[in-house]
Formats: sequence, C-alpha cells, structure tokens
Amino acid sequence: MKAIILLGAPGAGKGTLAEGVRAATDYIHVSTGDMLRAAVKAGTPTGLEAKSYMEKGELVPDDVILRIVGERLKQGTADDKYMFDGFPRTPEQARALDETLADLGAAVNQVFLLDVPTPVIVSRLSGRRICRNCGAVYHLVNIPPKVAGVCDQCGGTDLYQRPDDSEETVLNRLEVYQRQTASLIDFYEKKGLLVHINAGTTPQEATAEMLGKLA
Ligand code: AP5
Repeated sequence: MKAIILLGAPGAGKGTLAEGVRAATDYIHVSTGDMLRAAVKAGTPTGLEAKSYMEKGELVPDDVILRIVGERLKQGTADDKYMFDGFPRTPEQARALDETLADLGAAVNQVFLLDVPTPVIVSRLSGRRICRNCGAVYHLVNIPPKVAGVCDQCGGTDLYQRPDDSEETVLNRLEVYQRQTASLIDFYEKKGLLVHINAGTTPQEATAEMLGKLA
C-alpha cells in the first residue's frame, strides 16, 4: 500500500490537482470533503452530524473523519495507492493516519504542499462552480465549461456554487486552516516527507510538476 497527501489551503486546487494525477496514475483519490458532501446529500447520520460544521467553515470532529477514512481503507487491498485530499487536517488526524497505516504495514510516502498566494485562493473559491449531476469542478474565469452553464463531462445544466464558498465562510475556512491545519506543514517537514508544488500555475503545469516529483 502507498499513501500520499495533498496539503494546502481551501481553494489551493487540491481536488483539481488530484484529478489530474489520478487520470495519469493508478492512485485512488480520497477526498474527505467529497465523502462528507455525499453523506450530507444522502442524509446519513454522518451527513447530518457534519452539515452544521461544514456550513460554518469549521472542521468536522476528528472522530467522524477518522471513522469514514477508516471505513474507506478497510474496503481496500494491500496493493492500493491512496492520494488523500483534505485529510489529515489536524495533528490528531495525522497521528491516527500514521497508526492506521502502520497497522496495515504501510506509511505516508510523500506530502505535497500546494503553494498558492492568498489573493489567488480567494478568487479561485469565489469563481468555483460544480456540476450538480456529476461533480465536475469549473471556474467561471480560469476553467470555464466550453458552453457557458453546461457541464463538458455530462451535459448537465445545473452548475452551482458550494454553500461554503460564500465570502464570509471562505474567510473563516482560511482562518481555520491557519489555526488547525497549517502546523502539519512543520510536522511533515520534520519527517522529511514534504514536497512543495507551485500550484499558482495552470492545472496542467501543477499536475506535470507533481508527476515529476512523485517517487
Ligand atoms: P474540502 O472539500 O476538503 O474543502 P477545502 O479543503 O476547503 O478545499 P476545497 O475543496 O475548497 O478546494 P481545493 O483545494 O480542492 O480546490 P479546487 O481544486 O476545488 O472540505 C470542505 C469542508 O468539509 C471543510 O470546511 C470541513 O468542514 C469538512 N472537512 C473536509 N475534510 C475534513 C477533515 N479532514 N477534517 C475535518 N473536517 C473536514 O479548486 C478551487 C477552484 O480553483 C476551482 O474553481 C478550480 O476550477 C480552480 N482551480 C484549481 N486549480 C487551478 C489552477 N491551477 N489554476 C486556475 N484555477 C484553478
């Protein structure tokens, strides 16, 4: 089993980069944000618990996150290669991931830190639109669909803005990142696992840089 992590602020482009790398490799993209949004949509007990935190831009409690990630890893095999996006997000989650992987005879292999200036992040989040039907992610200016308002992938016509991409919630998410997640940069740097990616470039350039640095 292999495990790599995409670390970076909200809107840094983790999901977009993960899709580029997934398409070019055999890594499985595991996004805790996507898993939680699916649980909210399905109205499961996990979704009901997570919803109020997500709406405010706060982190969902560690025990909820560790349960859904643990369940996902249990479905896998020893040959799987995981690319975590949006996880871990607290020191507790990072320690628990190390323990879970150790139990499976594995360890975190590399941690890719997406470097993006804050003003770029804010404009990425305010322009993000998502296809309600298939989940494809666009940006009104940077990565628009070929036909305005129509998804390139599935032809869906409901491209919506995530509720937590409102200006007030975005500012809280950035603050929460600094307060609860940014210390992981130091944590992984000390372990010699941190790899910087200049993610302020185009998705194609960022993907090429990460593929070049993937061990
Ligand atoms: P989550 O879904 O993980 O959100 P996030 O970390 O805030 O990240 P985003 O999905 O907003 O951004 P991204 O970095 O993936 O950027 P994207 O590629 O979309 O989490 C949401 C919530 O769930 C959290 O607030 C929390 O409540 C909860 N949660 C999730 N995981 C948790 C955990 N482990 N613990 C506790 N709570 C958890 O790109 C953004 C935009 O920019 C898009 O429009 C895209 O088209 C555009 N773009 C991307 N890359 C580029 C580029 N290179 N050039 C130009 N435009 C680009």
